Amino acid sequence: MENQIFKAMVVQETAEKKFNRKIANKSVSELPPGDVLIKVKYSSLNYKDALSASGNKGVTRNYPHTPGIDASGIVEESISADFKPGDKVIVTSYDLGMNTSGGFGQYIRTPVDWVVKLPSGLSLKESMIYGTAGFTAGLSVHKMIHTIKPEHGEILVTGASGGVGSMAVSILSKCGYEVVAVSGKTEEKGFLTDLGAKEIISREDATDVSGRPLLKRRWAGVIDTVGGDILATAIKSVKQGGTVTCCGNVASPDLPLTVFPFILRDVSLLGVDSQNCAMPLRLKIWNKLAADWKSDHLVELSSEIGLDDLDDHIELILKGKKKGRTIINLA
Ligand SMILES: NC(=O)c1ccc[n+]([C@@H]2O[C@H](COP(=O)([O-])OP(=O)(O)OC[C@H]3O[C@@H](n4cnc5c(N)ncnc54)[C@H](OP(=O)(O)O)[C@@H]3O)[C@@H](O)[C@H]2O)c1
Repeated sequence: MENQIFKAMVVQETAEKKFNRKIANKSVSELPPGDVLIKVKYSSLNYKDALSASGNKGVTRNYPHTPGIDASGIVEESISADFKPGDKVIVTSYDLGMNTSGGFGQYIRTPVDWVVKLPSGLSLKESMIYGTAGFTAGLSVHKMIHTIKPEHGEILVTGASGGVGSMAVSILSKCGYEVVAVSGKTEEKGFLTDLGAKEIISREDATDVSGRPLLKRRWAGVIDTVGGDILATAIKSVKQGGTVTCCGNVASPDLPLTVFPFILRDVSLLGVDSQNCAMPLRLKIWNKLAADWKSDHLVELSSEIGLDDLDDHIELILKGKKKGRTIINLA
């Protein structure tokens, strides 16, 4: 197997802060050591992949590099008794696609601790329609629904047409919550209502510029994927005892707030880190995604591309212009 040649996206640093991407041949022998060699069938495009593919050294320190934080495929070789050749598996998170050659190549090799057996109820393709974005949406919902039930009121989802946001809208509506979606894409109203959003509001309407520390109470819960002023506005508008989850920073890493929503309204702000989620909870979330939370719209949420199309889609996601999920067919 070590001499097996395969196709992969390779990002190279051509000069200081200058990067280019191409589809090239690699050899399995170039992959890092690991317990499980996987033939990748599908990957997916996440915002973090676009950062890695454009030379963001906060995500990927060393180039040349093959991005792709998500992969699903078939075990080809395993030195662990937990997996055998032919098993269908998912790998997301940990270091895949960051500083370990990732799912934008036809083979990956990883530690056994990163590998999840494909749950029954999901195909390899469906698992990548979820990918890290769907998993993160699931983790966010899991954290919120401990305390917030559908009868408590509306849930706000920000960055709603993006990967995590669209998946969160879908899961919440499947669970019976009334979802209000914040989106910068007015043209995607139909997409979001089809997913189950009952109302769509613009980013401008979701951003308070008054500077007031507290706003009119509206949301029972918030699933935020963007950070910055939209997250701060949402927190100031949460009802007594409400819960907010925070996973992303596409708008800004800043959070201009006072402590008042927390000390006067008992609001909880919960962080979400899918990358380091412990395996028992990881398996629980994947099993939920494969069953109770499985979207009736999973395929509509996604578009499928090949490795050769990936470059254009990386540019689109960096500009915040993509909707839903993009999966990459590695065949
Ligand atoms: N913590 C974790 O474990 C974890 C895991 C996965 C992702 N993330 C983070 O979560 C965020 C979303 O990831 P994703 O994969 O869903 O990305 P994505 O597919 O690019 O979606 C982000 C969405 O945010 C909205 N948006 C873009 N630019 C914006 C801006 N300047 N201001 C306000 N809204 C903006 C857009 O939706 P609308 O046009 O509909 O507004 C966009 O589609 C990223 O920051 C990512 O790094 C974190």
